[in-house]
Amino acid sequence: MAQTRTPAKFYAPLAAGAPAPWREKPVRLERMIHFVPPHVEKVRAKIAEMIPQVDVVLGNLEDAVPADAKESARYGFIDMARAHDYGSTGLWTRINALNSPWALDDVCEIVAAAGDKLDVIMLPKVEGPWDIHYLDQLLAQLEVKYGISRPIMIHAILETAEGVNNVETIAGSSPRMHGMSLGPADLAASRQMKTTRVGGGHPSYGVLSDPKEGEQRHFSQQDLWHYTIGRMVDACAMYDLKPFYGPFGDFSDPEGCEAQFRNAFLQGCVGAWSLHPSQIDIAKRVFSPDPNEVAFAKRILDAMPNGSGAVMVDGKMQDDATWKQAKVIVDLAKLVVA
Ligand code: GLV
Ligand code: MG
Repeated sequence: MAQTRTPAKFYAPLAAGAPAPWREKPVRLERMIHFVPPHVEKVRAKIAEMIPQVDVVLGNLEDAVPADAKESARYGFIDMARAHDYGSTGLWTRINALNSPWALDDVCEIVAAAGDKLDVIMLPKVEGPWDIHYLDQLLAQLEVKYGISRPIMIHAILETAEGVNNVETIAGSSPRMHGMSLGPADLAASRQMKTTRVGGGHPSYGVLSDPKEGEQRHFSQQDLWHYTIGRMVDACAMYDLKPFYGPFGDFSDPEGCEAQFRNAFLQGCVGAWSLHPSQIDIAKRVFSPDPNEVAFAKRILDAMPNGSGAVMVDGKMQDDATWKQAKVIVDLAKLVVA
């Protein structure tokens, strides 16, 4: 069973008895985590324009940033953090892995220079709760040192076989946990999967219908990520964290991207990464509830004002459980219009 740590243990500046701020996590819409490379000046020049279009802007320091640009990415992120008011848009960074030569400086320098602007640190290649404990303690020290009163949250990428095995203990490792994302590229490599794709399906992964006299057999592709997303969603639900689908690497296949994001949405994910501007609208569409579903869900809530009993709506049986299902959709719809 996972051990959950208490915030007081980590968080020195809290007055005794005051509620830990992370107990009141802001519920915000995070349908897409939009990745930008902060070492590229022309990208930084467009941040102001991007802020109102996305739910989260993430300055990526890890994979895809060349080794000789790690420091300029870090300083570029500090620049972009300080240069803008992000309003209700989240500001995140993905730091380098804890066993890389850059991670410690990423955390120390960014928190020192822009910790008051930063909402979430995305931590790659998390293998167990020990990785979260390390970052948690480090952040607690830095927050005290620099007088940062709003805790910086941690988001883990689930992208190694060991991490998937430890998903529940990672989820329960700290009250500083914000959520988790599936990292299908690193996870595929870690598991020795035979695919070079970044997320999405594979034309050869599926099932063949039974042979029937005089009929052609049909092959239908299956979702390669179903099992891992299911484990991640359950672990996140158990600890009140947010699960996210990660990247979809084929920018020339918006339909494939939408289908993959939609599977994740239906399974319980709240958002996905957008690695290309064209994926922002896909994520916005997929991770906002369908207006027809919202209308039907509202009718269920209206038909059962106190949330219990059994009624029929359009010939479909509704009860306490479907009331809760309907509430998930209506609550999300409220967040979208807020
Ligand atoms: C993301 O980091 C991935 O490895 O898919
Ligand atoms: Mg990765």
